[in-house]
Amino acid sequence: MNTALHTLRTIMHPATRHATLAMMLLALPTAAAFATDAATIAQHGNGRGAPACASCHGAEGGGQAAAGFPRLAGLNAAYLRKQLDDFANGTRANPVMQPIAAALNESERKTMAEYYHRMPVPAALSKPVTRMPADHSLGARLALRGLWGKQVPACVACHGPHGIGVGAHFPPLAGQPAAYIAAQLNDWKQGTRHNDPLALMQHVSSALDEQDIHAVAAWFAAQPLAAKGTTP
Ligand code: HEC
Ligand code: HEC
Repeated sequence: MNTALHTLRTIMHPATRHATLAMMLLALPTAAAFATDAATIAQHGNGRGAPACASCHGAEGGGQAAAGFPRLAGLNAAYLRKQLDDFANGTRANPVMQPIAAALNESERKTMAEYYHRMPVPAALSKPVTRMPADHSLGARLALRGLWGKQVPACVACHGPHGIGVGAHFPPLAGQPAAYIAAQLNDWKQGTRHNDPLALMQHVSSALDEQDIHAVAAWFAAQPLAAKGTTP
């Protein structure tokens, strides 16, 4: 179904796409098939309890810094999929996303993860990555050197230079809202997020105090995102 839709999309002219697609879908026997279309769910929800993702994560998937809603565009598909599964199964407890993820069925979670993975980083967020001047702030020290006294490696050792993200396991931190980054660190400290492989982040966050969290979150939020190849 999905592959068929995808092929259709690529071969059809944008102007005729919607009308033809709608006719195609009307001809389909089940309404459920309609709900698995990622763009529809992103813009309108799935009609079974999951609201439009775009209302919080933005039409371009860039998130909303002021509200602490994370960027999804360009993130690794397997990572996004895991997070949706984790919200649904409760290992990442969040009052907003948990019911939304639970209202998506397995195939919708997979489809949404692939949809946001393919979405380019919004132009408004992407800037060329330039070498940052040496920075001796607390946030930079934690990000680039860690806290060896407490066995905390540098964040960039796992999350990549500038926090651009590495593969399916280490998500990007660069450019994510500071409020979002801080909330995740606090959730691990409090145990409401306990979905990390080998409890790596549980260990890291338990060593950080409130001032450390504030500083390191602000540092990563200020890191530039490359227009291309920001995330794997
Ligand atoms: C009412 C606002 C809202 C809506 C609607 C919403 N989200 Fe979210 N989303 C959030 C918030 C808030 C978080 C951060 C949760 C946390 O702190 O753990 C989040 C986090 C996520 C994450 C984790 C990202 C990461 O980097 O770990 C994914 C994936 C996600 N949302 C996907 C979706 C999808 C797909 C939809 C639509 C079906 C959707 N969201 C709809 C508010 C929303
Ligand atoms: C030893 C490796 C490692 C180190 C060092 C590390 N992290 Fe992580 N981090 C991870 C892994 C693995 C995940 C993904 C957890 C999951 O699957 O949900 C993660 C996830 C995160 C997330 C959630 C992002 C999202 O969108 O879901 C934040 C925020 C984060 N780390 C911040 C930090 C900060 C800040 C530091 C440095 C103080 C740091 N990390 C150091 C391994 C590491």
